[in-house]
Amino acid sequence: MDTGTTPEQAPELTLDDVRAAAERIAGQVVRTPCMHSQTLSNIVGTDVWLKFENLQFTAAYKERGALNALLLMDKAQRERGVIAASAGNHSQGLSYHGRRLGVPVTIVMPKTTPMVKVMQTEQVGGNVVLEGETFDEAYAHARQLEQELGLTFVHPFDEPNVAAGQGTVALEMLEDCGEIDTLVVPIGGGGLMSGMGTAARALKPDIELVGVQAKLYPSMYDRLTGKDLPCGGDTLAEGIAVKKPGDFTGRIIEKLVDEILLVDEPSLEKAVALLLQIEKTVVEGAGAAGLAAVLAQPERFSGRKLGLVLCGGNIDTRLLANVLLRDLARSGRIARLRITLQDRPGALYKVMREFQAHNVNILEIYHQRIFTDLPAKGLVTDIECEARDREQLDQLVAALREVGYNVSQVELN
Ligand SMILES: Cc1ncc(COP(=O)(O)O)c(C=O)c1O
Repeated sequence: MDTGTTPEQAPELTLDDVRAAAERIAGQVVRTPCMHSQTLSNIVGTDVWLKFENLQFTAAYKERGALNALLLMDKAQRERGVIAASAGNHSQGLSYHGRRLGVPVTIVMPKTTPMVKVMQTEQVGGNVVLEGETFDEAYAHARQLEQELGLTFVHPFDEPNVAAGQGTVALEMLEDCGEIDTLVVPIGGGGLMSGMGTAARALKPDIELVGVQAKLYPSMYDRLTGKDLPCGGDTLAEGIAVKKPGDFTGRIIEKLVDEILLVDEPSLEKAVALLLQIEKTVVEGAGAAGLAAVLAQPERFSGRKLGLVLCGGNIDTRLLANVLLRDLARSGRIARLRITLQDRPGALYKVMREFQAHNVNILEIYHQRIFTDLPAKGLVTDIECEARDREQLDQLVAALREVGYNVSQVELN
């Protein structure tokens, strides 16, 4: 087809690139399901389909781009081996497929990387080198080893072959769920969105493309809007915590994407918890970012047919447990009530009778006499408890106040 473009204007990534990647990687990555979610559709008031990329072997879509890049290398490059700087899903995807294909894979991570991430990468075949205190220092070292050892550097996002591989997610979604008219896609460096956007816009020109970033790392958002919001902090969505987005991906995203939304930490936590409760599926923070954006402003998506990518499932189990408990706390099903008492026999017993009368289960009691700012004869007791719902909890609090107790609830953010 003659598109009328001059060579300078020729698109940097095309549907054909993505289709070729799909053919190349077929049978070597999981053809993950894309399914309609009845319950989430009811909750957000519009149709929602989920693409379960957390079901890949290394639990993230990153395998697609890494594998496509590996398969496009010549024999000499494959024999010498590849290198990347990453402590995340890219390192696991590259290591796993490198080992399968007999390509040596070196991954440089900062010395501060949690041991569990080092082990996960080593388990799937990567040779991990710990260097530098920060990601930037690890990255610089990887580029130095690339030169010294003649390895091929595989960028986690800012490379056409990688982005083309990631774009295959969109091909599968539109093939399996043709009704989708809006894609909501997490953006870190932009590899997933640039690949998916390229394929989806070419197949369905009217499709709406919505990117999502963590509010703490709005780097691509800044690039698109010309703003200068700061990047930094501890986000649950470390997979999309990228301070400097790609140049190649940035150019594509600028052209294709309709809007980038920013999500806060409570929304990310809520989305992770909901996906586990409703879909019985484990996602990491970045994998829940799309749902978080929709939950935060459902009216923005009203009447649309939404495709969300659950792009990764690598979350530490202790962190997941905390996220779930915090979600119960936010919904009023567990709570910590702080009650001021007089230090005399039976005082705690009387309070507990109120809990019993309201059928609220006590989980823990922290009785504090010394580290309080109350007079010596007073004490503060913190009671962690479990209620059926917020209404039951509120009734207990009201009853305690009615009989004269000073009660406050220890809140989460
Ligand atoms: C689970 C998950 N989601 C999203 C992203 C962001 O992808 P990109 O950098 O291609 O925008 C990553 C990147 O590592 C990821 O691991």
